[in-house]
Amino acid sequence: MKTTQTRVLEASFPGRVRCVEAALDVATAPLAAGSNAVCLFVNDDGGADVVNALADQGVRFIAMRCAGFDRIDLDACAARGIAVARVPAYSPYAVAEHAIALMLALNRQLIKSNARVLQGNYSLSGLVGFDMHGKTVGVVGTGKIGRCVAAPLIGMGCKVLAYDLYPSDEAIAMGVEYVDTIEELLPLCHIVTLHCPLNESTTHLMDERRLRLMRPGSMLVNTSRGALVDSAALAKALDERVIACVGMDVYEKEAGVFFKDSSEKTDDVSGSSVGADWDFELASLASRPNVLVTGHQAFLTAEALENIATTTVENLLEFESGVKRGEGGAYLNGVGLGH
Ligand code: NAI
Repeated sequence: MKTTQTRVLEASFPGRVRCVEAALDVATAPLAAGSNAVCLFVNDDGGADVVNALADQGVRFIAMRCAGFDRIDLDACAARGIAVARVPAYSPYAVAEHAIALMLALNRQLIKSNARVLQGNYSLSGLVGFDMHGKTVGVVGTGKIGRCVAAPLIGMGCKVLAYDLYPSDEAIAMGVEYVDTIEELLPLCHIVTLHCPLNESTTHLMDERRLRLMRPGSMLVNTSRGALVDSAALAKALDERVIACVGMDVYEKEAGVFFKDSSEKTDDVSGSSVGADWDFELASLASRPNVLVTGHQAFLTAEALENIATTTVENLLEFESGVKRGEGGAYLNGVGLGH
């Protein structure tokens, strides 16, 4: 079945698009031979070795079909004259609505409740949630997505506190209140939701120390990037009842695990149905009734897919023509357009 993105790309560049199933690494980079541009997705490896291998094949442009670019070595791209573009905004609503869905599903224990109903168990025992109205939700990062999360929460009667390096006037006008440090935010919130980018300074932003600063019995939601949270420290915080529950659409070691069906894999040991790449840490986290994991699907709405495809085509057309067509703000590493 053709995805929206393949369909739009092929229609825009007839006969010039090649879809490669193999995961990108140094060994598969030669599959790009003869291509000026490659189009990568969120978990593709864009480390220096792969960038150099792509450059050796003549690649001059990387068009990311996503907003985050934490897996692309922009310096290595610049050193080899590869321009990099992304899709800076395709639907902040999609990600924000998924974050809210995780909050509500966890709070009202929808997964547990539905599993019971499927077995004819209509007991309400153990399904007590809390009113969102009147609770305090902490938003870390009030950019496009963070603001789209804040709006419905304010509509539900939540108090929204925020921490961002650059507070937004738009958020303040909506009624968001800023604090000066994340340390100040964490103990005050019933729910903390992460919407800042992953970079050197935010890797393991939620480490053991900060998880311990969260309000006892509170909820953490991460729809941004997995490595914002130290997953070993998270498991410990859950074990020790430091926090009550976690909703996560992203996981720090998701590359190679997410976007694949590993359910049929085996390690060739008779009777075993566990493949070599089975992630026991993730499986252990996901097996807890107070943890809700989705596989990096927060972006996955029809509108977002269409917008990603359209902007990616715009980016590729700009690269091909050497002429900037829109105000996408898509270019990341200062390497110019054109050939
Ligand atoms: P944005 O660039 O509009 O907003 C990011 C905000 O984070 C900015 O206001 C920035 O000042 C703030 N920030 C940066 N460093 C910070 C720090 N150390 N502490 C607190 N705030 C900090 O980005 P947008 O569009 O809102 O996206 C946010 C993140 O969501 C992306 O970086 C990406 O990782 C993630 N994302 C996840 C998706 C999914 O499907 N799960 C899809 C799209 C984006």
